[in-house]
Amino acid sequence: MVLLAPELADVERLLAERAASPVTTIPDLSSYLIAAGGKRLRPVLTLASARAVGGKGGDAVCKLAAAVEFIHTATLLHDDVVDDSDLRRGKAAAKNVWGASASILVGDFLFARSFTLMTETRDLRILDILSRASCVIAEGEVRQLAAIGKPDLALPEYMAIVEAKTAALFEAAARAGAYTATDDDDAADAMGEYGRRLGRAFQIVDDLLDYGGLTSVIGKTVGDDFRERKITLPVIYAREAGSAADREFWDRVMGEPDQRDSDLAHAIHLIRATGAAERTLETARTESAAARAALARAARGPCHDELGELADQSVNRAF
Ligand code: IPE
Ligand code: IPE
Ligand code: MG
Ligand code: MG
Repeated sequence: MVLLAPELADVERLLAERAASPVTTIPDLSSYLIAAGGKRLRPVLTLASARAVGGKGGDAVCKLAAAVEFIHTATLLHDDVVDDSDLRRGKAAAKNVWGASASILVGDFLFARSFTLMTETRDLRILDILSRASCVIAEGEVRQLAAIGKPDLALPEYMAIVEAKTAALFEAAARAGAYTATDDDDAADAMGEYGRRLGRAFQIVDDLLDYGGLTSVIGKTVGDDFRERKITLPVIYAREAGSAADREFWDRVMGEPDQRDSDLAHAIHLIRATGAAERTLETARTESAAARAALARAARGPCHDELGELADQSVNRAF
């Protein structure tokens, strides 16, 4: 998104500046993760949503976009401890370099910093949207704990977790971004709905990539969800479509802490062979189409086409 390049450069500058602290572990650890890259999807969403409803860029929207990325960064630091993941953005997870305690505490710092940035926008609507979303993300992460090791997790519960842990921040990023440019609640709602649907599609595809994506592309270890016995959509569909023997397999590897060396390969095989992979993609495509439909309800401004493409890319990435 060429139009956004100067604003994204501003966001990068803010991310570096505002991670500063005399307590050197804080900038060391955060710059390690921030400099490792990441797609910057959420700040792009904020900046592009503002443009889509008539925004002209500027200081406030860049601060908001940086705040959103800080919240995301904080959740990643916490998430890798919770999920015991060793690889993030193609590098050793920060918890493996500085330890879990430092990761959690620096995550808290970045999270708090995001609210300082938001107050600088002087817009209470933004604080309202992002503080609510932060609660919902935490709820989603806690809710997911209860879903571990439950092979018969119901589809609506999986969707509720996805909605909370991922879609809530996508929605907030887009809705709050729109409010930096307009007072029109309908336009902000349409952008929020676009973000929410995009977030759902994105997480569903992410869950599929955990079974057969390439580590070199996703920058994470394939099979993390499997090893953690986290029930995701490909597993729900594969178990549903499988034979009695397949069901026994899923109940053992997901229901009990009893996994053998060849189990991940067999899980990947079943997810493909039962059509669960294709069905998961189809579900993501439905969400992505809903994102496009919501986008069509907002006025046609700059970045409109790019946001539509983003909806497609969220499903097509890494395939
Ligand atoms: C990772 O998000 C967490 C999920 C919601 C799956 P991203 O895939 O956007 O992470 P980065 O920022 O690009 O590393
Ligand atoms: C993504 O969690 C959502 C949050 C970090 C809040 P996941 O655990 O599904 O994402 P990855 O696979 O670690 O990126
Ligand atoms: Mg994780
Ligand atoms: Mg997680």
